[in-house]
Amino acid sequence: MLLQELLGIDENIYLVEESYLAQRAIKSTLQYLSGVRNFLGGQSVRLLRVREGESTLGLLLFNPGDEDVPVDFWSVFTGALAAAPLKAEFESSADLILALNSPEKEIEVSAELWRDAVNEYYSLMLVSRNLCSVCNVRPESYGSVFSENRVQKVSGIFEKLRENGYSPGGKVLEVCCGNGMSTLALYRLGLDPLAVEVNKCTVCQGLEQGVLNPRKALVMDARALSRYFEPGSFDVVLGFMLGLVYEFNSELWTGIMREAAAVSRNGGLLLFTVSSKPEIEILAEALRNAGVEGEIVDNTDAEGVYDQWFFVGRKN
Ligand SMILES: C[S@@+](CC[C@H](N)C(=O)[O-])C[C@H]1O[C@@H](n2cnc3c(N)ncnc32)[C@H](O)[C@@H]1O
Repeated sequence: MLLQELLGIDENIYLVEESYLAQRAIKSTLQYLSGVRNFLGGQSVRLLRVREGESTLGLLLFNPGDEDVPVDFWSVFTGALAAAPLKAEFESSADLILALNSPEKEIEVSAELWRDAVNEYYSLMLVSRNLCSVCNVRPESYGSVFSENRVQKVSGIFEKLRENGYSPGGKVLEVCCGNGMSTLALYRLGLDPLAVEVNKCTVCQGLEQGVLNPRKALVMDARALSRYFEPGSFDVVLGFMLGLVYEFNSELWTGIMREAAAVSRNGGLLLFTVSSKPEIEILAEALRNAGVEGEIVDNTDAEGVYDQWFFVGRKN
């Protein structure tokens, strides 16, 4: 696990927040830290500090095994994924603790690598079924789920883009990634997307099959992107085979388009594919209303199923 590698520890690790998304609000983290401060009045504890320069990204507190929990483990507290005011609150709380109790080790890590490590922790929890009370999903074989033709279809879109002067790169977000079928094409093109999907079983399948990168895959509702990412966070925002998009459910998809535009930087590239022309027209209108200038492209083939139409454009 990347967290253990970065920290140079073998013991188990336990993040106090129940999910990656909960790391935005860090409710439990702040509560626990205030408890730790009070507890430190009389005794010392084993602490590790994770930092980037002067700022504290994380704090680890050692918990020796006892009768109730017979194994040693480290509790991990971090504010690195929290909204700015909470991040500041975390740092001042952590610094108060560090002033009372020196850490036995300080580990310098970039904030990006630290976020990847936290992301990976939750992916591993998901794929090992630790986030579900029961699992009724039957494992499927790789061949029955992933199709090379589909990867080729997505790759073909990028060839068209390159011919038209687009060269996607930088910080990439893929929304509605499913089990990673389309993400696979992005990886092969050398992109390193953060892939989000609302259905946790689908993400779990992609992780289990070794398709989705556990450091960059998240269970997240794409209608809430701007709650978790700052405006303008991404150079490229993509989504493949969105839909089915109908007038009656268009609010779901137009909501995702608005959010995609909100987290794209100005000048950033946006690309979305669907199966039919009426669907792409609905998405295109939503994107234009959100300040994205672009075009609908006919990508139809004899099979007539996947990625038949796409919208590509840039945010103004
Ligand atoms: C047809 S699948 C496409 C999956 C993948 N992009 C591909 O091309 O193979 C559409 C995906 O959108 C996901 N989805 C629907 N609503 C969503 C939302 N609000 N946030 C994130 N994902 C969503 C679905 O769960 C489904 O996995």
